[in-house]
Amino acid sequence: MRMVDLIEKKRDGGMLSDEEIRFIIDGFTKGDIPDYQMSAWAMAVFYKGMTDHETAVLTDAMMRSGDTIDLSRFGTKSVDKHSTGGVGDKTTLILAPIVSSLGGKMAKMSGRGLGHTGGTVDKLESIPGYKTTLSAEEFMQQVEDVGVAVIGQSGNLTPADKKLYALRDVTATVDQMSLIASSIMSKKLASGSDAIVLDVKTGNGAFMKKLEDSRARAKEMVSIGTMAGKKTVAVITDMDQPLGRAVGNSLEVREAIDTLRGEGPADFKEVVFALGSQMLMLAGRAADEKEARALMEGVIEDGSALDKFAQFVRAQGGDAAPVYDTSLLPVAGKTLEVTAKESGYVHRILAEDIGIACMTLGGGRETKESAIDLSVGIILEKKNGNAVSAGEVLATIYGNDDAKMQAAYEKIAHAYEIAKEPAAFVPVVREYIFPE
Ligand code: URA
Repeated sequence: MRMVDLIEKKRDGGMLSDEEIRFIIDGFTKGDIPDYQMSAWAMAVFYKGMTDHETAVLTDAMMRSGDTIDLSRFGTKSVDKHSTGGVGDKTTLILAPIVSSLGGKMAKMSGRGLGHTGGTVDKLESIPGYKTTLSAEEFMQQVEDVGVAVIGQSGNLTPADKKLYALRDVTATVDQMSLIASSIMSKKLASGSDAIVLDVKTGNGAFMKKLEDSRARAKEMVSIGTMAGKKTVAVITDMDQPLGRAVGNSLEVREAIDTLRGEGPADFKEVVFALGSQMLMLAGRAADEKEARALMEGVIEDGSALDKFAQFVRAQGGDAAPVYDTSLLPVAGKTLEVTAKESGYVHRILAEDIGIACMTLGGGRETKESAIDLSVGIILEKKNGNAVSAGEVLATIYGNDDAKMQAAYEKIAHAYEIAKEPAAFVPVVREYIFPE
């Protein structure tokens, strides 16, 4: 078999056999297939797509490309979550301590930023000392002792996805539905949790912009998980504006900590509670949504979720002081305010543009090797539906470089759409997808 023939077959709209897909993933993982051929193949998939069967085989091949974790010792308590990627999406940072403080076991492997979206691993690295790599033994021991560990795609878990993910990020091949579904599900299946809750984003800042596409992808991922014997549920959530107010690595950590103190933005809390309820129910920690919500409110109010966050950061080598004093987190030296040119109501905030503005500031990667600036970002002072007067501040930019801040300013000013009348209210939690 030759890779060039398989690129050509996909380029011309052909369906790859199981054997051909396994050949590609195996060869790429071993380094026999170079990045340039894999990039060309990913672009062919981007244009021609994959069938559900091809996607399922791709998922399986990537899952088997490395080690898998056995979490059976935690029984039904082990539960994982994954987002399809959004702007301002810092839900893992808060779900990890909440769910583990309620007896769930989260052995979580998270990603770095991808395209215009942020990644949990980058966010956690803004906590001084936090190690995103642990040995398999350390990882398991921490889940046993603390209830939660969050690492990057380290070790030899789904190495095929690790390589392909980094390549897609810089070759404009991220937002392809089969590549997204297989990337997420291969990792989730390899990580061994008994239950999986998927946060499938929909809207202008998501990789799936239309609700029907998000629904189709959610159904496909729930079906892949269920067929693999995992309890899998998807929650479709809104990404027609960034989630919460903070966008940018350390600013998002700050907002997650504020939320653990009970002071977070309402839309962010709503997504956390929707996902957290499903996680607690699947992990057998709550009988129904009402009980799950009450339990989550309880650990926020009594401070135990915040203490769990500190314990988990400490266990992973991080400095827990910023958990109790967020001014210790890195913050960029300069600020620039974006003001409204006219009065009215915020009608829309193009989340993708806000994500790109954050990348422009240095908060995301331009190439696989780029270092990112964890201290930069944007605080959205106004969100959809808010009334604004001309001259009022819409957003504050935190940056370290005047030229980059000016470029981000243009993007953000363009991202805000102001209308004379308020737009109809759109709930942040759109739909739940359960196994059929
Ligand atoms: N999250 C992932 O892990 N992979 C994708 O492809 C997109 C979002």
